[in-house]
Amino acid sequence: MSRWLLGYDGYDPAAEGVREALCTLGNGFFATRGAAPESTADGTHYPGTYVAAVYNRLVSDVGDHSVENEDIVNAPNWLPLAFRIGGGDWFSPDAATLLSYRQELDLRRGVLTRLLRYRDGDGRTTRVTQRRLVSMDDPHLAALETTILPENWSGRLEVRSGLDGRVTNAGVSRYRDLNGSHLQPDAEGAAGDDVIWLRARTVSSRIEIAVAARTRLTTGRGEEKGQVGELSREPGRIGHDIAVDVRAGTPVTVEKVAALFTSRDRAITECAEAARARAAGAAGFDALLERHALAWQHLWRRCRISIDHEDAQRILNLHMFHLLQTVSGHTVDLDAGVPARGLHGEAYRGHVFWDELFVLPFLIVRFPEIARSLLLYRWRRLPAARQAARAAGLPGAMYPWQSGGDGREETQRLHLNPNSGRWLPDNSRLQRHVGLAVAYNVWRFYEATGDADFLAEFGAEMLLEIARFFSGLATYDRTLDRYEIRGVMGPDEYHDGYPDRAEPGIDDNAYTNIMTVWVLRRALATLAVLPEYRRVELMERIALQREEVSRFEDVSRKMRVVFHRPPGGPDPGPDPGGDVITQFEGYDKLAELDWAAYRRRYGDIRRLDRILEAEGDSPNAYQASKQADVLMLFYLLPAEELEDILVRLGYPYDPGLIPRTIAYYMARTSHGSTLSALVHAWVLARSDGEDSWRFFLETLNADVDDLQRGTTAEGVHLGAMAGTVDLVQRCYAGVETHGEVLRLNPRLPAMINELRFELRYRGHWGVDVSYGRDRMRVRLRPDGAAPAIQVAVPGRDIVTIQPGESCELPLTEGRLH
Ligand code: BGC
Repeated sequence: MSRWLLGYDGYDPAAEGVREALCTLGNGFFATRGAAPESTADGTHYPGTYVAAVYNRLVSDVGDHSVENEDIVNAPNWLPLAFRIGGGDWFSPDAATLLSYRQELDLRRGVLTRLLRYRDGDGRTTRVTQRRLVSMDDPHLAALETTILPENWSGRLEVRSGLDGRVTNAGVSRYRDLNGSHLQPDAEGAAGDDVIWLRARTVSSRIEIAVAARTRLTTGRGEEKGQVGELSREPGRIGHDIAVDVRAGTPVTVEKVAALFTSRDRAITECAEAARARAAGAAGFDALLERHALAWQHLWRRCRISIDHEDAQRILNLHMFHLLQTVSGHTVDLDAGVPARGLHGEAYRGHVFWDELFVLPFLIVRFPEIARSLLLYRWRRLPAARQAARAAGLPGAMYPWQSGGDGREETQRLHLNPNSGRWLPDNSRLQRHVGLAVAYNVWRFYEATGDADFLAEFGAEMLLEIARFFSGLATYDRTLDRYEIRGVMGPDEYHDGYPDRAEPGIDDNAYTNIMTVWVLRRALATLAVLPEYRRVELMERIALQREEVSRFEDVSRKMRVVFHRPPGGPDPGPDPGGDVITQFEGYDKLAELDWAAYRRRYGDIRRLDRILEAEGDSPNAYQASKQADVLMLFYLLPAEELEDILVRLGYPYDPGLIPRTIAYYMARTSHGSTLSALVHAWVLARSDGEDSWRFFLETLNADVDDLQRGTTAEGVHLGAMAGTVDLVQRCYAGVETHGEVLRLNPRLPAMINELRFELRYRGHWGVDVSYGRDRMRVRLRPDGAAPAIQVAVPGRDIVTIQPGESCELPLTEGRLH
């Protein structure tokens, strides 16, 4: 199969949800699932359309509770296109006798094609070819072209091209008890001969969304035009019925061009007017496709990565494709973050989590302007984060675990365990570490781009306010002479409390504590690199006191990290060379889970939390983690940086600490999040190439094979998707952008012989990095304006490369067999 194609043969109702998610087309402004145009939400099909950052808040009753949730809104559906022959039944793949059925997603050009042949009850055979795009050139346009070829019949063909504003949010079965009526249809109508339009408003956020569609029908050589019949119209829905007499062997083409605007768009007066005008004035399908394909060509040029592994290459392309459909150059103008599940479905309500930690590194070295706009999404929500911190009695900024429209905490208070049918308290808002991720991204962005203005204008303020919050969250224990962070959750969502403690939260999560130290040190570094003028201004503006800065210093030297000696390790004693980092205080005292027994009983135990709860038990009782938690430290921090922190804290560090800790948690992790396999692939890359590759393949296949069982249909896993590409370039190829020097420290798995990609780095638009069997090369595209860069490779002196020059080095180290 080609590296640019995702293809599906046959029609399989059970797989339709996954295909719809993976065949979603979007442009960073809006996206539409790859649902059949004639379908409605009926349990098999779910034709969702989502506009970036268009959220709405609703209250629902769950038993005797009332809960409020904010969701990304399923926007009016622009797709509807149905047809029937001679007054018979409207075509549906679920009812017709399908002779062939194929769906192809062309990743290179962003086109979804459906090819099918069917026979009806009267023996009429019809061939249908459908192509669609959501324009990457004009973010307000989408188009659907349907060619119908009567093979052995002549007669009347009726086509209904519609717009549907009566959609609800019903894409996730777990949420179906909740209120999903986010849209209130407002007006609809026709404009001219061939345009229909519809406007709806979100009920509480009061955002207007307008769609307009121009439908044209041509037969034969395109000379004739079908007759536009009645307008079918009911509140919230509108359609054009077009009827035409067709002849066997002569194709009919229906072209539907849709335009979507919201009341938030710029450079318009009114969104329905804008939609009507854009649809009416748009070019035809082929011309739109040409512009759209060109826009994709430009994107792919900047996403170049080539790897001599066909399957990996194809899925990496797919992952970049879905990432860029969710956040693109068109997002830069919006106030949108990274929705964890893309604009591909309704899981997690379109919310923004810490997953941007896995997404931004890729964007930073390919599309820094997109990364910057995503960071600004966080910056605009500093007031909300400050208010949340104040409400918790703390200084600084407390970012919410789930963020949506205005930056308040959006995490649900109750969640449904589908295994037990019970609604349970959801404490995941205690994952304070999301703020650490924001700060981490700010700093890494600054390092890779050298964008001192961004740091001074926006980044420093976030970093300092986050540092302030964590410094305030830490409490000093006099007897230990250590700072502690109590009552939080780490990344591992299986542990939200202690079995014997009433209030939720765990203490001294190693990830949170160590990353707090990292952030406090970056806050100090930020104060040191800001121009004096700006530093004074900023400190005055946020009223940052000298004593607080001294506390940053103190906490960063005295934070508590817990270690323990695993069973079977050397006897406890003064020699620390047997300890591992403890996920949180008391983790090692929890019971060991009988993993083999659970695997035998349940097969797939990724969602062990649901299994245990349904059994009346809880993962809180066990040394069992949903996902990488301590290991996140090895993912984010180079070993030297971790060593530096531990030594600064006065803890012993030995080279065996990392591999011992990896082995310990690997045996105790169920990988209930797609992020987990990704992190494992990364942290194992130095020590165990084979295991690393196995986890890499698992992450690659997470969505294409729906490994988390049914979750892909509800939206793709964007963190894991972006993370796989990032893993290839930053981990396997070892590109490090920390400090003033571009470091290449490869650890290529044996399965990769050739790898090549291009980065943007500190003003250079083309840093071309390539690896062959026994050599590596770095080349700078000629660029008059850009400075020389310094490149460091282990065991070599630092070399300086000028624009237009390259440097080639033998590759001996860094290859794992
Ligand atoms: C994971 C979180 C992640 C969230 C959104 C959860 O299943 O445990 O780490 O942020 O999904 O992707």
